[in-house]
Amino acid sequence: MSSLPADCLKSVTFPELNRTLGSLSAVKKCEIQDGTAQITIELPVPGYPHKEELSQSIEKQIRSVSADVNQVDIEYTLNIKGPESGAKVGLHVKNMIAVGSGKGGVGKSTVAASLAYGLQSLGAKVGLLDADVYGPSIPHMTGSTGKPEVREHLNSNGSVVQRIHPVEHDGLKLMSIGFLVPEGEAIIWRGPMLHKMLTQFVAETEWGELDYLIVDMPPGTGDVALTLSQMLSLAGAVVVCTPQKVALLDAVKAIGMYQKVNIPILGMVENMTGEIFGRGGAEQAAADQKIPFLGEVPIEAEVRICGDERRMKDLFTEESKSKAALESICSRVAMEAAKVYFKKPATTTLEILQ
Ligand SMILES: Nc1ncnc2c1ncn2[C@@H]1O[C@H](COP(=O)(O)OP(=O)(O)OP(=O)(O)O)[C@@H](O)[C@H]1O
Ligand SMILES: [Mg+2]
Repeated sequence: MSSLPADCLKSVTFPELNRTLGSLSAVKKCEIQDGTAQITIELPVPGYPHKEELSQSIEKQIRSVSADVNQVDIEYTLNIKGPESGAKVGLHVKNMIAVGSGKGGVGKSTVAASLAYGLQSLGAKVGLLDADVYGPSIPHMTGSTGKPEVREHLNSNGSVVQRIHPVEHDGLKLMSIGFLVPEGEAIIWRGPMLHKMLTQFVAETEWGELDYLIVDMPPGTGDVALTLSQMLSLAGAVVVCTPQKVALLDAVKAIGMYQKVNIPILGMVENMTGEIFGRGGAEQAAADQKIPFLGEVPIEAEVRICGDERRMKDLFTEESKSKAALESICSRVAMEAAKVYFKKPATTTLEILQ
C-alpha cells in the first residue's frame, strides 16, 4: 500500500483557462488503492472541451510521482465558476450573459433560448430573462404558459418584502413581460418605466442559485445594456448576426455599444448560415474585430418550426439537425465566459503562488 502526495496535482493546468488545479481547489480526491489512482477533479466550466488533454497531463503527473500506479481512474464533477454577476443586487447568479445584435430578426431569441436549453443539458442551472419588453418571444418559443407569482419574503432585518417568482418550465427559470400581458398586445413603455421593470425582473426576482442567466436583449438600442451594466457585473455578451455584409455592419456597432458600457464581448455567432444569406461573414468580422467566433447555426426549417410551435427544446433531441451546431456554440460560450473570468488577476496571494 502506498499513497500519493496530497498536492501532487496542484500545478497541473486547465488547458485554455490560465488556471492550475491547485488555484481552483479542483482536486477533490487523489488516492491510490491496489495500484489504481483514483482521482476526482471538479471542472469550472460545463462541456469543457479539453478533458482528454487534461486527463493525459494528470496521468503523466501521477506516474511521475509514483511508480506503483498501474491504472489512473479520473472522475470529473462540475462546479461552474463566474464573476457572481448578481452579487451587487443580492442575487446568486454566477454568470449573466446577454445575447444581442445590431438589428432585429437575426435570431437573438432563438440563440438565447438555445443557450439556455443547451447549457442546461451540459449540467448547468439556467435561467432565461426576456429583456425584449416590446417584442417578448421567450414565452412563445419555450411553450411556457405559467405566470410569475409575487410572494412575501422576510428580509434579514425583519421587514416584509415582495419578491417575484419566475415561471419554471423544462427545468429553466423564465421571466418575461410576455407572461403578464396577452400575446400580440402592443406595449408602450416610457424610458423610466422600462428601466424600472428591468430592475424588477432582475433584482426583485427570486432567481435562486443559477450558473447562468441568459438575457434575450431587444434589438438595437443601448438602453437595456446600460441599465443591466449599471446593476450587475455581466459575464459578457454574445453578438448574433446573419452572414450578409449589411447585417455585419450593424453587428460591429452592437459590439461597440457593449464595449462602451463595459460588458465584455464573448464573441459572435453567425446565424442562418446557408445558400440564402451566405457563409463566413461573421467569422471574418469576428477576426477583424479580434473577438472570438463562437460558431454558426445553419438556416434550417426545423429551427423556425420549433420556435413557431412553442418547442425550442426539441432542437436538442437526437433527431435534431441543429443539435450539434447549437451544442458546440453552448460549450464555446461557456468557455469564453470562463476565459474572461479567469483572465482577471487571481484575488488572493495563495492563488498567485499556486
Ligand atoms: N437558423 C435558423 N434557421 C431558420 N430559421 C431561423 C433560424 N434562426 C432564427 N430563425 C427564425 O427567424 C425568425 C427570427 O428569429 P428570432 O425571433 O430568434 O430573432 P430575433 O433577433 O430575436 O428577432 P427580434 O429582433 O424581433 O427580437 C424566427 O421565426 C426564427 O424561428
Ligand atoms: Mg427576439
